[in-house]
This record gives sequence, structure tokens and C-alpha cells, in this order.
Amino acid sequence: MRLDKTKFALILLLFFLFTFPLSAQISAQKKQPEIERKVTLLLSKMTLAEKLGQLQMLDGEANGKFRPEHLEMARKGLLGSTLNVRGAEMSNELQRAALESRLKIPMLFGFDVIHGYRTIFPVPLGEAASWNLAAMEKSAHIAAKEARAAGVHWTFAPMVDIARDPRWGRVIEGAGEDTFLGSKIAFARVRGFQGDDFSANDRVMACAKHFVGYGAAEAGRDYNTTDMSEQRLREVYLPPFKAAVDAGVGSFMTSFNSLNGVPSTADSFLWKTLLEREWNSDALVVTDYTATMELIKHGVAADEADAARLTLNGGVDLEMVSRTVNQNGEQLVKDGKVSLAEINNAVRTVLRTKYKLGLFDKPFADANLEKQVVFNAEHRKFAREVAAESFVLLKNERETLPINKRTKEIAVVGSLANDKKNMNGNWTGDGRPEDPITVIEGLKNKLGNGIKIRYEPGCDTKCEDTSGFAKAVDAAKDSDFTILVIGEDGDMSAEAASRSNIDLPGKQLDLVKAIHATGKPYAVVLMNGRPLTINWVAENSPAILETWFAGTEAGNAIADVLFGDVNPGGKLPITFPRNVGQIPIYYNALPTGRPFLDKEKYTSKYLDVPNTPLYPFGYGLSYTQFNISNLRLDKNQIKPTENVKVSVDVENTGKRDGAEVVQLYIHDVAASLSRPVKELKGFERIVLKSGEKRTVAFILTPKDLSFIGRDLKPTLEDGDFKVYVGNSSDSGLEETFTVSRTAVVKKKLN
Ligand code: BGC
Repeated sequence: MRLDKTKFALILLLFFLFTFPLSAQISAQKKQPEIERKVTLLLSKMTLAEKLGQLQMLDGEANGKFRPEHLEMARKGLLGSTLNVRGAEMSNELQRAALESRLKIPMLFGFDVIHGYRTIFPVPLGEAASWNLAAMEKSAHIAAKEARAAGVHWTFAPMVDIARDPRWGRVIEGAGEDTFLGSKIAFARVRGFQGDDFSANDRVMACAKHFVGYGAAEAGRDYNTTDMSEQRLREVYLPPFKAAVDAGVGSFMTSFNSLNGVPSTADSFLWKTLLEREWNSDALVVTDYTATMELIKHGVAADEADAARLTLNGGVDLEMVSRTVNQNGEQLVKDGKVSLAEINNAVRTVLRTKYKLGLFDKPFADANLEKQVVFNAEHRKFAREVAAESFVLLKNERETLPINKRTKEIAVVGSLANDKKNMNGNWTGDGRPEDPITVIEGLKNKLGNGIKIRYEPGCDTKCEDTSGFAKAVDAAKDSDFTILVIGEDGDMSAEAASRSNIDLPGKQLDLVKAIHATGKPYAVVLMNGRPLTINWVAENSPAILETWFAGTEAGNAIADVLFGDVNPGGKLPITFPRNVGQIPIYYNALPTGRPFLDKEKYTSKYLDVPNTPLYPFGYGLSYTQFNISNLRLDKNQIKPTENVKVSVDVENTGKRDGAEVVQLYIHDVAASLSRPVKELKGFERIVLKSGEKRTVAFILTPKDLSFIGRDLKPTLEDGDFKVYVGNSSDSGLEETFTVSRTAVVKKKLN
């Protein structure tokens, strides 16, 4: 009897925690009666053609102007939204046309504001490496401020796809491989874009994309098939989307892939069962670019009308770019293949969104505000701070870094050191190629004339032509220190940019070897949007600083870190493999029945490469040292409804102030389903002065300890849990506690 009660209480608790984790969800998702009344009234006045116009989004911009044909459509009330139209002037002109239409329904302007509007922050994967949620929320807020002032109402961000395959070029756009970290970041970014009310003039509506499984594309090839169990889907890939819902996200985007045979854009399980019913969300659902039309090529729609039918009946609201719904909607209704109710539902969602965004009251952008806000000095200052926080120090032998400011002559080698455009990485919003600070400029800004800088590109990023190597070597020989800037160019980690080989491009490694051979001190500065296989560099180069694509202030931030004005504290949000043959490789894999044992032949391993990654998830060094000690739990045995408090002491034992990301992982030792060898369940980024010591405490809740069971429900079972606390996924102190439903009974008996 007593046991049943505990079980019932636990189920209730887990249900509550998974369903309503935060009050934000409840308020943001609640329908507002006043808006519903207005929508109903408007809907009653609309013709079917006008309704279908609201379900259409077109790519509106060409060469800095909107497309003239869209002006006419807007004037007739036959186009509800565009993407890429931006800037107060351009958007206002198109908006004016829409407001001349019969029902004066304002246009909705969407745009990919992925890591900044004009002030560009590090690419999302890089920013995730900061593990600084407050900074990520703030950078999203700044992006929103600039975008909204420029007439953009809606960003197609954040991308919250879990991505464990570095061959996939779009790993750059997300938060990496981990569900826990990814969910926290999803929440922070949505809050940053939207705040409490996205009608405000410094906010935009966010979009959780791409629902779902896009990051699990087979072979890491973009747009490719995804196939997985629903258990894995719910445990690994859904939570960041759910976190976005909890943050009140206003919209979702479909994904290009099929999941278990059903393309997302036609999958009513995703839109109706999960999003609408299970998560109780009224988010607007937009297709990805031409994804409806692609249902034909996926082989699930016979023709465009069929594709439109699947999209509408699947629960999707708005079609991006292709026009199947717009052009076949009337016939589909006549033929009884799509009900008018289904169309009305979609239109209702679009109109509700426009009301929620405040577009009926404030349809126009303010050109003066745009001038004040976009790319202002305060935003750039913050971009510099965030950029430096995103850097990960991968290696630093014998304190090669920071470089002594009294160094007389510095060689800078690598074309990326003198490259503005590539600093912005991919998806650059309205960022201009001429905006960013290069590494050379950053060094000059920092060092003034006190230092001699000799720059030699060596080769371009493709690095097929080695004729510049000799001069680069010469520069290195002639100088006291060399900064060697290598990596990908901005377009190599992007959409449609999968790579089967993730080595340094072209002959860049030969350039590293040539500089290394000079015997002079040097540091490698890496730029890339995905993990790279850099074994030789990792083994031989004295220092490596991972800087991703750091955005507008890249060069200044890199100089800040190279010369020690900022101590790097970033940690990898994604595993760096030793070679592509190890992929998929991620820290929270399931154990095997034959875990690797040295000298035992029949254990899980490769003949030609260790199982371990080159750099694990959560890894990153600092110019100072941290000692994590005294791991303690407040209880060694708990009931399944109780929390455990986990504490450690963290001390900065080095000579410099610095930031450490303290990470807590768990392992459920024996459960009805095999559980990952480690799972991140808590982290805190703390800044400690040299010599400072602080206690960091985490609370492990029943939700943290539970997993998606075979019945696809959150499950927490009795048994032992290991707890690890450290500064990387491959290190840490260890403790154990037990979950027991009979704990209280035992105590009473004693
Ligand atoms: C991408 C989306 C993006 C859309 C609009 C697509 O190709 O997959 O992520 O939001 O284009 O630019």
C-alpha cells in the first residue's frame, strides 16, 4: 500500500516536471481571449484566396530590394509573409502595400538572424562553448533588438538540433552533441529573442528548428534520412525543442529529412500529436525552404496538390517559398481532400501570431531607431566579450600562451588572419563582409606600434598552392613568435556543406609542419565551424586556441586572449574525433557488453585507432589551474521523489584569475534499459580570482535521474547512481548514492 502511494506520487511528480517545468510556458502558451475574438472576426471576412495568401511565405529580397511582384500580391491581400526582406525602408514599403489591401492585414517579415543581425556574435556552436547561458541570452536579445529595429519580426532561430556527426556542416548552427546543455541553451536563446512579450520593439519571435532529427542525418550528409527509435527520439532529440516550448517559443520549423520514413513536413505525429496535444503549444509551424514541394521527391506525394494536402492535413501552417498550398488549396477544399476547418486553423494561427507580435497596432519599423540600434558600439563591445568567452584552449605546452607583450617581432601566418568576411562564419544575417576585425587588425589595436608584425598568408584556405610557404617560413624564422591561423573558410561549415574528410583543408597541415620545423615558438589559432581531425597538430604544436568563427569582433577578441588580457575558459560542446572512422563518437554513448580492455582481443575497439576521442566533450584548458576537491552528497540514499545535493570545492591554484566550468555527470548503474556511461546533469561557469576557493553545489532532482523507459514514459528506478564532478566529461571525482523506494521503511524498521 505504502509502495503504491510512493509510486503514484513519483509518477505525478515526473509528469508534472516534464509537462509544466516552468510557469513561462503556461503564460506564454495561453491563448488570449481578446486576440481570439479579433481573429475570429477577421477570419469571417476573408475569402478563401485571402486565407491561402496568409499561408504563403515568399523569399522576398533580391539585391537589396523586395521583389516587385510581391508588392502587387501584398496590395491584393494575397501574400502574408516574406523572408529576407529587411531594413526599415524596404520592409516599410512592402508593409504599406499590405495595409492598402481590403482587410489591411499586416505582413510578417522573417529572417535568419542566427548569431546576430548586423553585429555578429560567434557562430552558435562557438557561443555554446562558452557554457555561459546569460551571455547567450543577452546576445540573442541584442540580435533581436537590431533585427526588430530593422523591420524583422521573426527569426528562424535557434536551431536546437542535437548534432553528433561533425561531417554534417550544420553542426555549426546548434549547441553541439548534448541534450542537457542543448536544452538549457535552447531555453536561453528563445528567452533572449522573445523576452516575456515578443511584441516589444526590442524583441522578435523565435523559431525552434528543425523539427526533428535533422542533426541525425545518415552519414552526416545534409538533407539525408533519419531513422531512430522513439525512445531515442524522446530522450535525445526532443528535449531541446520542449525546452523551447517551455520558454514560450512562438514558432517551429519543419525539417528537410524524413524520420522513420515520414518527411517532417507531412508528419502529423510531430505537429498534431506531439507539439499540439502533448506539449499544448499553439506555435506557428512553418515549412523549411520549399520543403512541401520536396515531398514529391521524398516519394510520399504524387504531385504538388498531394504535397499541399499532406502539409495541411499534417498540421503545418505556413508554406515557405514553394506555392503548393496557395495554388491547390481551393481545389483541395472542393474535392474534400482538405477541410475548410483545417485551413481556418492554419490561418487562425498565422493571424494570432500577427496579433501577438503587435503588428496590427505597430506595423512599421522606425528608421531612426534602426540607425541608433543597429551595429552600435555597446553591441560590438559585448560581441568582443562573448567571442573571447567562446574560445577553447585545446593545448598549451610549457605556457606557450599567453604571448608576452614585450615580444619584439611577431610573425602572423595564414590567410584567415587577414580575412574579414570569414570571421562572420556562415548565416551572417545582415552582417557585412567588411565589418569584422581581422586578427592582424586586432593585434595592431592591442599592441600599437610597439611591436613589429610580419604577415605572410602561406596559402589561402583551400591551400592547394604552396608557393607562399617559403615566405611564411622565412617570417617565422625572422620573428620571436608566430601566430599561425588555420582552419576552414566560413562556407565550409554550413548548410549543404557536409564533408567526408574533416582534416584541415588542402595542404594546411604541411604549412603547420613547415612552421614547426623552424623550431621557433608558435601557437595555432583554429577557425572552423565543426570539429576537425587535427591529430598531428594536437601532438606536435605547442599551443592550440580554438576560436570557431568569432564574428564582428573576432580579431580583437583573439588578441585579448593571445596576450592574456582575457583568460580562455571555453569548453567543447562537441567531441573532436581522431578520424572520421570513429563517427558517431559522443561522450554519452551506451556501454557495451564488452567494453574495451587493453590486451583483450574480443572487446569493443578498432584495430587502427583508440576508442577515445582526440578531445572530449566538456574539455578546455585555462591559463590558470583549478583544483576540484571534496565531492560530497547530502544523502547516500534517497526516495525517488527526493533531491540529492552535490557539492564540491573549486580552487584557482594558479597565478591568474580565470573561469572554470564545473560539470556534473551521472550514471545509472543498472536499469531496465542500458543507460549512457555518463550524462551531463548540471554545470556552472564560475570566475575565480587567483587563490580564490568556492563551493559549488548542484541539486539533482527526480527529473534528472529519470529516463525514457520502454513504455516511452519518464521512468525512475531503484538502484545505484554514480555521480562525477569535474571539468570535462573524461575526468572527475566520483561518488555513489542509491535510489530506494523502501528507504523509509528500512529506517523505520531499524
Ligand atoms: C534552412 C533553414 C532556413 C531557411 C530560410 C533553409 O535552407 O534549412 O534553416 O531558416 O532556409 O533561409
